[in-house]
Amino acid sequence: MKFFLDTASLKEISWAAQAGLIDGVTTNPSLLAKQAGDLDPKDVLKEICSVVEGPVSAEVVALDTDGMVTEGARLAEIADNIVVKIPMTEAGMVAVRQLAADGIRTNVTLCFSSVQCLIAAKAGASYVSPFIGRLDDVGQEGMDVIREARTIFDNYRIDTQILAASIRHPRHVVAAAMIGADVATLPPDVLRKLLLHPLTDRGLDQFLADWNKLVGRAKAPV
Ligand code: E4P
Repeated sequence: MKFFLDTASLKEISWAAQAGLIDGVTTNPSLLAKQAGDLDPKDVLKEICSVVEGPVSAEVVALDTDGMVTEGARLAEIADNIVVKIPMTEAGMVAVRQLAADGIRTNVTLCFSSVQCLIAAKAGASYVSPFIGRLDDVGQEGMDVIREARTIFDNYRIDTQILAASIRHPRHVVAAAMIGADVATLPPDVLRKLLLHPLTDRGLDQFLADWNKLVGRAKAPV
């Protein structure tokens, strides 16, 4: 399973990239608005693309097909690893087809059902992003969408990648990995939590304490 970092924070992206923990990045207008400040969001995206080798999703804000295609083409010019994020709407699906015909990779975002994922895949999306946490928030089982989409894509040998999005905690990552999602995009705090287990810390403390006792004994005068 690939891990993407779901943030526009250069600091977090640089940390995760240099530690070799991530295979790509996803951003959205909310995440960019939070980070960009006075900067041009395109400059922020350019910088992110220079730090990360893998795909970097950048979302269009136009709602009509022509606007999405124009904006998507401009975003794709920022760097070779840009993937254009398109919302799951009828106009968006037409835009995905046009961008795919121009060789531009797309990530269809705001998917909340497996059939939306199928439609996006049929339009030619490189990735589909079902939002797990937001479905859980409204009392639905978000992971069901990943499970159904995996079965459907396998049934028809669809090679669009399933990107588990809106991940809130490590158990989401485990469940998505067991189902076979291709990618999980993680907020930085969730990525950090994946590294941790209290028994690891306790075990390490014990090993070092035992080792230091041994070293102490060896140094002690006979
Ligand atoms: C996906 O690409 C989105 O940026 C993201 O996962 C949305 O997550 P949220 O529901 O935590 O905002």
